[in-house]
Formats: sequence, structure tokens, C-alpha cells
Amino acid sequence: MSDKDQYAVFGSPIKHSKSPRIHQFFAKQTHQDLEYRAVLVPAEPFEQAVNDFFAQGGRGLNCTVPLKELAWAYADKKTERAELSKAVNTLALQSDGSILGDNTDGIGLVTDLKKNNAIQLKGKRVLILGAGGASRGIIGPIQDELPESITVANRTIGKALNLATEFAHKGAISACGYTELAGLSFDLIINATSASLSDDLPPLVEGLLKEQGSCYDLAYANEPTAFVRWAHEQGALKSLDGLGMLIEQAAEAFYLWRGVRPTSAELIGVLEAERVS
Ligand code: ATR
Repeated sequence: MSDKDQYAVFGSPIKHSKSPRIHQFFAKQTHQDLEYRAVLVPAEPFEQAVNDFFAQGGRGLNCTVPLKELAWAYADKKTERAELSKAVNTLALQSDGSILGDNTDGIGLVTDLKKNNAIQLKGKRVLILGAGGASRGIIGPIQDELPESITVANRTIGKALNLATEFAHKGAISACGYTELAGLSFDLIINATSASLSDDLPPLVEGLLKEQGSCYDLAYANEPTAFVRWAHEQGALKSLDGLGMLIEQAAEAFYLWRGVRPTSAELIGVLEAERVS
């Protein structure tokens, strides 16, 4: 193996992961000598694969679908945001040999909203669609921004209620089904369902988005997702997808590993340009 510091993303599927490109870009930008590769690792041999990676000198790992819960269970200790989200997307070797687990997804979203898109969360009414792992990963960091309220809507109401109960100690949060949203309106609507992956859309009633409100799909694709198209139809001020979040969660992981914070604007520009060309 090369004498450079080794990093990787594990997941399945992994072929189309942009993470190697993103981290190699950051490494060049910040003059860090490291290697970062994508490795196909399904859930079954996850623990062995991670053991081997660190035993062979690996310094840090990203874990993506379907491994984030397994990575959470694997970590020796966890950041508070990872603990709450019950998912880990970043493992970092510590100086004492232990493995720290972090979840940089939520802070990646918040950074993309605030820094890259000038969308503030403080005092805002936020609607989150979906109550799976993706929602769980973003609620805590959104609450840290002190929104007026968070509403979690889900097809299976029980899952949304469970999430709201779990995060209630951190700020105002409520749960409901999609039909109960009728008559309500929000400053920011975040799609955290997996519907976009099949070009589908949750059953959204009209009038949910306030004037000057914005929409954000955690998923991203070269073409606008069904939710981004819906956001355009609703007259959203900004109709964003998760490319910026992907880059910002990587920047946060890079910072955790290397102690150096990369800047993302140039890379966002490069990747945005590629998908319109
Ligand atoms: P993830 O880790 O990506 O969040 P997940 O835990 O399987 O994946 O959760 C998927 C979420 O998307 C769930 O909230 C799911 O709703 P249910 O809990 O009711 O199943 C939601 N979802 C998936 N497809 C959907 C669709 N077509 N319309 C509405 N919600 C959908």
C-alpha cells in the first residue's frame, strides 16, 4: 500500500460515488497528501472490512447506504450529533487508536442552506417530508439553528411521531400525515423521503410553501428531481437539490480527519457546470 494517508468510502452500490473526486479536490486545494478511494462493501462483511481497513493503516472512512447504522454501532465513541441521529457517515482514527463516529450530513445541509444559498433557519417554519434515516440525520443540526418550528410529515404517521418524540427535548417539533398538512404553510420544505430515487413525490397539497419560501431535496440527480420540479411549480424562491449538501458533508468530514477546512465554492461550481452541460 502507498505510504500516503489512506481514506475511503464504503457502500453498496458505490460505483457512481462522487466522494473520491470531492476529497481528492479538497486534498489538492489544502495541500494534503492523501489517497481516497471508493470500495464496494455490502452490509454483510462490513465489520471485517472496517477492521481490515484500519489495521492496514487507514485513517478515516465514509460510510454510505446501507452502512450508516452499522457504522454507528461500530464506532467506539460518537459525537453528540451522531449519537442522536443513530447513523454515522464518518469514522475517524483517533490518536489513542479508538474510532470516533460522526454524522456530518445534517451540518452539511445547514451549511449548504446558509452559506451557499443564504437561506437562514432561525425563526423559520420548517417542514420535513419523510421519517426515515435521512430525516433523523438532519433534525438535530436544524434544531441547533433555532427555527420557530419543525413539522415532520410521513406516510406512516407512527414513524414521524417517534422522531418528534425523540427530538422534542431540543426544540419545537411535531408530526403528522400528509393530509393533515392542508391549511399549513412553511418557509422551507425539505424532502427527506426516498421518493426522488424513483422519480416519485409524496402526496403534497397545494399552498404549503409560503411566499419567498424555498425547497430542498436531499437527493440529487443530473436532471431536476420530481420534488425540485414541484418546487418550481409552487414558485419557490430557491428549488435546490442535495449536491451542495453532499459537498459540504464531505468538507466537514475532511475537517474532522485533517484539521483543515476546505472551501467548497469552486467545487460546487465545477459539479454544477457538469450536470447542465
Ligand atoms: P432513508 O434512510 O433514505 O431515509 P428509509 O429509512 O427507508 O430511507 O426512509 C424512507 C422514507 O421515505 C420514509 O419516510 C418513507 O415513508 P414511509 O415511512 O411511510 O415508508 C418515505 N417514502 C419513500 N417513498 C415514498 C413515496 N413514494 N411517497 C412518500 N414517502 C415515501
